[in-house]
Amino acid sequence: MSETSGNYQADIHDTGYEQFYMAKILDGSGLFNISGRHTESLNGKWNFAADLYDTCRRASWYKEEISDPSGRPRPPDWDWEGWDRITVPASWNMERRELFYFEGSGVYTRTFRYVPRAQGERLHLRFEGASYRTSVFLNGEFIGTHDGGSTPFNADITGTVKAENRIVVVVDARRSPCRIPMENTDWFNYGGIYRDIFLVRTPGVFIKDWFIRLVPDGTFSTIKADVFLSEKTAGGKVLLEIPALGVREEMTPLNGRVQADFSAKPELWSPESPKLYDVRIAYNVPASENPADAVRDLIGFREIKTKGHEIFLNGTKIFLKGICVHEDHERLGKTTTPDIIRTSIRHLKEMNGNYLRLAHYPHDARFARIADEEGVLLWEEVPVYWAVAFENPDTCRDAENQLTELILRDRNRAGVIIWSIGNENADTDARYSFMSKLAAKARELDDSRLVSAACLINHEKLMIEDRLAASLDVIGINEYYGWYDPDFDKLPRILANSNPGKPVLICEFGGGARAGQRGTADDLFTEDKQKALYEKQVATFKKCAYIAGTTPWILYDFRCPRRLNRYQEGFNRKGLIDQDRNTKKLAFEVMRQFYGEL
Ligand code: GCU
Repeated sequence: MSETSGNYQADIHDTGYEQFYMAKILDGSGLFNISGRHTESLNGKWNFAADLYDTCRRASWYKEEISDPSGRPRPPDWDWEGWDRITVPASWNMERRELFYFEGSGVYTRTFRYVPRAQGERLHLRFEGASYRTSVFLNGEFIGTHDGGSTPFNADITGTVKAENRIVVVVDARRSPCRIPMENTDWFNYGGIYRDIFLVRTPGVFIKDWFIRLVPDGTFSTIKADVFLSEKTAGGKVLLEIPALGVREEMTPLNGRVQADFSAKPELWSPESPKLYDVRIAYNVPASENPADAVRDLIGFREIKTKGHEIFLNGTKIFLKGICVHEDHERLGKTTTPDIIRTSIRHLKEMNGNYLRLAHYPHDARFARIADEEGVLLWEEVPVYWAVAFENPDTCRDAENQLTELILRDRNRAGVIIWSIGNENADTDARYSFMSKLAAKARELDDSRLVSAACLINHEKLMIEDRLAASLDVIGINEYYGWYDPDFDKLPRILANSNPGKPVLICEFGGGARAGQRGTADDLFTEDKQKALYEKQVATFKKCAYIAGTTPWILYDFRCPRRLNRYQEGFNRKGLIDQDRNTKKLAFEVMRQFYGEL
C-alpha cells in the first residue's frame, strides 16, 4: 500500500521503530532490593500470541487504537482475550510444541486490579527474569524496556496504574551478535517471562538497597553496612538491627545513603556451618506523612580471600570441590523451582562437593538463597560468552548492566564468593579493555568478593597465558584434554610450564557420554571413556599445587541445538548425570572419590 492510497498504516514504513522502545531503559539504576518485602504475584495464566514480526511494537497494539487519525475504523490485528493462554512463569518453548524453536517476540497480556493501601504509596512491577528484550506497557502507555535474559528489573508504575489495569508485555527472544550472550552459544535459547513477576508497594521514600558484609581484614570482627534510600534528599533516620549480635545502629542519611562500620563477632558462615543472621532495616521520617519503611534479610558473615596460589575462607585454606550447572531442565527449560535447586545441591553433596559454578549467566535468585541455607559456595557469571562484540559500546553497556543487576541482586548472599565476568573470549585488545572494565565494575560494586573469568591457554607455548589474568583474583581455566584435544599429555606440561602467581580453578573439563552407553575407554560417548578421562584429569590435578578448585563440565546433560549426533540428539552429553536428573554415569564416582579424599 502506498501513502497515496489513504489507507496506509505508517508503522509498516517505520524501519527505525525500535528506537522509541529503547529510549526508556529499565536497568540496574532503577533496581531495588525486595528481600523481606510483601509482594503480590502476577504469576498465572496470561493471554499470549507469538508475534513473529514484532507487530505489537511496530503497530503500537498496546494503544488499542481501533480508528485511524481521521476517525475511520481500523480493524484490530490483536485480540487480547481471544488469544490462547500461557503459564507465567514458563519458558514458552516448553509450553506448546509449535513454540519449541520460537525465537521472535511473544506478546503477553492480562488485567489486574489495584487498590492503594497507604497515602503516597508507590507501586512497582518486578520481573525476576524474562528473555531477552522486554518492553512493558500499562493501560496504553509505554513503561520501559529491559535488556538481558537472566537478571531482575523493576518499573515504577505509580503514575500509570488505575483501579482496573491492562498490562501488555512484549518479550523479544531473538539472538543477536551484539547482545550478551551473542547469537552463538552452547546452550538452548529459551524465551519468555520464565521467572516470577509481581507487584511491590513501597512508601513514597523507601529503602532501595543495602549491602551488609564482614570487612575482609582477617579479624572477622567488623561489619560494614551500606543502606541506600530511594531519594538522595531523604531526611529522617535509618535503623539497622542484627538482634542476635546485639547490633542496633541508628544513622542519619547523607545524600540518600548511610554507611557504617561496627564491631561484632558473628558466628562465621561456612559450608560446614551455614549460619545466617536476621538483619532488620527500618527507615522513618518523624512527623511526616511518609510512612515508615522496613525490610528484613537473612545474611551470613564470612571472609573470602586469596594469598599466593591459595584461597582462604574465614582464614582457613579451602579447595573448591565443585561442578558446573546450567539452568536447563528437560521438561521446564530455563524455568526452575526450589525443589530442582535443592536436588542439584543434593547431588553436589553426594559428590562430596562444596561449590557450584552457575554457568553461564545469573541463575534464579532463589539459588543463592538456598545455597546460603545449605552451605554451598557459588561462582556466579554474566554471559560474556565466546565471540562477544567487544568493540560495540551498546554491547559493553549491556554487559556492565547485567553484571550490575547480578551483583545488586546477590551481594548479600554469603555463598557467592566469585563474580565471573566471562567465558572463553578470544584475546583481543577490545576484549581486554572491555573485560578489564567489567572487573573494575565488579570491585566498585562489591569490595568483598573475588573476580574471575574462564581465561585462555597459550596453546603454542603450552602455558596458561592471558592478559586478563592481571585484572582477576582467581584464574579460571577451561580445558578438554582427552576430549577435544586427544593429546592428554599437554595438560601436565601446561601446568608445569605455568606459574600463574594466583589461584587457578579448572572451571571446565570433561567429555561426553550417553547414559547407559558402554564400551572401551576409547569408545566415544561411552561412560567408560568419560570415566577414564576423568581418572586421568583428577590424577593430574593432584600433582598441581596452584589448582585451588575444580568444576567439571557439567552436572546434568543439557539441551543444546549444536549437539546433533546419534548419542546427543539435541543434548550436550557431558553431564555426570543424565538429562533425567537421576541416572548417574560412571564418572560421577570418580569425582565423589576425588573430593572425598581432599
Ligand atoms: C566450552 C563452553 C561450554 C560448552 C563446553 C562444551 O568450554 O564453556 O559452554 O558447553 O565447552 O564444549 O561442552
